[in-house]
Amino acid sequence: MTVTITDIPADNEQLIRKTADLLFREFMVNYPDAWPTPESAVREVRESLLKDRISRIALENNDVIGWIGGIRQYNGISWELHPVVVSSTRRYMGVGTRLVRDLEEQVRKRGGINIFLGTDDENFQTSISGIDLYPGVLEKAKNIRNIKNHPFEFYLKCGFEITGVIPDANGFGKPDIFMAKRLVPWKGRGGNDEDSNVPG
Ligand SMILES: CC(C)(COP(=O)(O)OP(=O)(O)OC[C@H]1O[C@@H](n2cnc3c(N)ncnc32)[C@H](O)[C@@H]1OP(=O)(O)O)[C@@H](O)C(=O)NCCC(=O)NCCS
Repeated sequence: MTVTITDIPADNEQLIRKTADLLFREFMVNYPDAWPTPESAVREVRESLLKDRISRIALENNDVIGWIGGIRQYNGISWELHPVVVSSTRRYMGVGTRLVRDLEEQVRKRGGINIFLGTDDENFQTSISGIDLYPGVLEKAKNIRNIKNHPFEFYLKCGFEITGVIPDANGFGKPDIFMAKRLVPWKGRGGNDEDSNVPG
């Protein structure tokens, strides 16, 4: 399949609608509260076209088969990945990975050095849901196992690390898992090359 990754032109109503349809349809399966109506998905896509955002779609024959968004945070030094979605008919073919790589490139171009994200586990898909994470939250997070195709593993494969967890973020036993990835070589404290050998 030939897949192109590109911006959504702000005046292309058809592509905005197709992207929103994809978001609504695919999140309805596991996260029905995320975008509960087609209109809420359209609003999300429109917001992604505002200033301080990155919004990139994967196109195959003029069909939108994937979408990734980035939100400028921390004065543009770090960007939040939100959201990423690939059509269920096109998963496990590398499209998600290509979208993440593309977002990394876009963030680097804008001078960013990190991407971070939160990935909820509301459906007991990992070993750190459905249980009381206190005490020893980080120890349990360190030993996380994927039970039912939770996307944290996709992000691990894209080079992200788990950097933290909010226990019970979505209700008892339903945590949010935080992940991050550095996009450029470590430059030392405060980004000064001369400090690059100073640990911590
Ligand atoms: C998560 C998602 C974007 C991945 O897209 P994709 O195109 O299938 O991903 P890729 O084909 O690039 O997969 C890259 C690797 O991650 C693995 N992977 C992908 N999704 C995975 C999952 N849910 N669980 C475990 N591993 C997964 C693939 O097997 C592949 O591994 P490999 O390199 O060893 O072969 C897609 O499944 C999706 O849209 N899910 C629904 C929306 C969603 O959950 N978004 C994230 C919310 S935080």
